[in-house]
Amino acid sequence: MSQRLRKVVFPVAGLGTRFLPATKVVAKEMLPVLDKPLIQYAVDEAVDAGADTLIFVTNRYKHAIADYFDKAYELEAKLAQSGKNDLLALVQNTVPKHVRCVFVTQAEALGLGHAVLCAKPVIGDEPFGVVLPDDLIWNGSGAGALRQMSALLHANVVGAVAVEEVPRDQTNKYGIVDTGGDGGRAARMKHVVEKPKPEVAPSNLAIVGRYVLPPRIFELLETTKPGAGGEIQLTDAIQALLGERNVLAYRFDGTRYDCGSKLGLVKATLAMALEDPALAGPTREFMASHS
Ligand code: G1P
Repeated sequence: MSQRLRKVVFPVAGLGTRFLPATKVVAKEMLPVLDKPLIQYAVDEAVDAGADTLIFVTNRYKHAIADYFDKAYELEAKLAQSGKNDLLALVQNTVPKHVRCVFVTQAEALGLGHAVLCAKPVIGDEPFGVVLPDDLIWNGSGAGALRQMSALLHANVVGAVAVEEVPRDQTNKYGIVDTGGDGGRAARMKHVVEKPKPEVAPSNLAIVGRYVLPPRIFELLETTKPGAGGEIQLTDAIQALLGERNVLAYRFDGTRYDCGSKLGLVKATLAMALEDPALAGPTREFMASHS
């Protein structure tokens, strides 16, 4: 079995109700942070990790993501004619030439575990990544979170999830990991539970949207019963995997922005503006004048 992380799954079939009314017509993954949609940050991170096959698990209503990664003939011709080569390069390079995009439909919204299972025929028998585009993880010019995680795979480690500590009162929004008190950077997961109430949560160490998983997870997902929220949960299949093999909870280098929330999207936008030489100064002035 190959240990290289060539394939990455993006579950993008969600409705994005927290961003209604915009998400009536705009897929939530297309919401921009400055000039790039969330899905572009997610794809850039996967390509940085070495992926050459990107699998988007979508639904029949969401065409925008496929359109975004497709060739835009008219636009490209116009930009070429008017000599706007910088813009042309931006439009043409949403994914590098050697990378292919595969679209898989999730016919029913049965949960994250079910969405990942929909990618099974494309993954085959090799380890793969899962990136939830809502969680924008930014590590500047350093290695992206998924690249950091793919480096953890070896004979005794079949997978990893990205984790960070969250306030106790928010454990019911996340998969929560028990490492048996191991506070190390890459700690062996002992137990994981989806969205526990604060009073029963085993810790406040939350999974954020990055996973490196072995193909065995598909067999486990096939027998995973609906769990929290009545959905087929990826977390429950990972819990089953923990009984067989080592999976690590990894505290990544970088900052995670929860762009599934309005505040997270605002923070990500400000952070990116502060990294942009042309925008940093005016953004700081604006923020100072409002503090
Ligand atoms: C999903 C996972 C959860 C994880 C979270 C990270 O939940 O089920 O375990 O902690 O993503 O963002 P969702 O946010 O889709 O409800």
